[in-house]
Amino acid sequence: MFELAVETDRRWAEGALEHLGELLLEHAHLERKAAANALQLMFRYPEHAFLQAPLSALAREELEHFEAVLRVMEARGIQFAAIRPGSYAGRLLQVARTSEPGQLLDRLLCAAVIEGRSCERLKLLAGALERAGDDELSGFYRGLVQSEARHYRDYVEFARRIFGADAVRVRLPEICAHEAEVLAAIPGEARMHSGRLAAADDGVERCGG
Ligand SMILES: [Fe+2]
Ligand SMILES: [Fe+2]
Repeated sequence: MFELAVETDRRWAEGALEHLGELLLEHAHLERKAAANALQLMFRYPEHAFLQAPLSALAREELEHFEAVLRVMEARGIQFAAIRPGSYAGRLLQVARTSEPGQLLDRLLCAAVIEGRSCERLKLLAGALERAGDDELSGFYRGLVQSEARHYRDYVEFARRIFGADAVRVRLPEICAHEAEVLAAIPGEARMHSGRLAAADDGVERCGG
């Protein structure tokens, strides 16, 4: 189901958990950004009427995730604050064409890939948290994994409905290949979307989508 071109090194999660406060703060920002992106698509493409209700629901769900992360942060004494934005999404979106209709196809598929990558990383975090004995946060992340997998499928389905399955079959692997290059160029720091990719034969658990 997922077509990510590269998998994350499973040791990424252990490294990320060493900076749990920063990770939670960044996660809160990412959920907020996911909501904003869904809203942007809603406003930018009113001619695709069928997109309006599901994008609205998706944006609302991302804001619920945002609020849930804020509650986790509050319970752990972590303040919400501005952060230096990561470069992942911006670099990924450089692959998007600048004229329509290609731009919409690319934006939908980039959104799908971001959801798919988030899903993979949240699942790795849930596993690492479980091993570290933090069942509360592990359970929280396991719950989010299912939502992000659904969001991946939703964005791919939006693209198929507008552009057809063949167009998606051609373009999605190209965007995934670009995403792999973007990740490889980002330092392996404690970021939700940093580098640190698995070797080809490192059988990392894939996100169930
Ligand atoms: Fe989310
Ligand atoms: Fe999402």
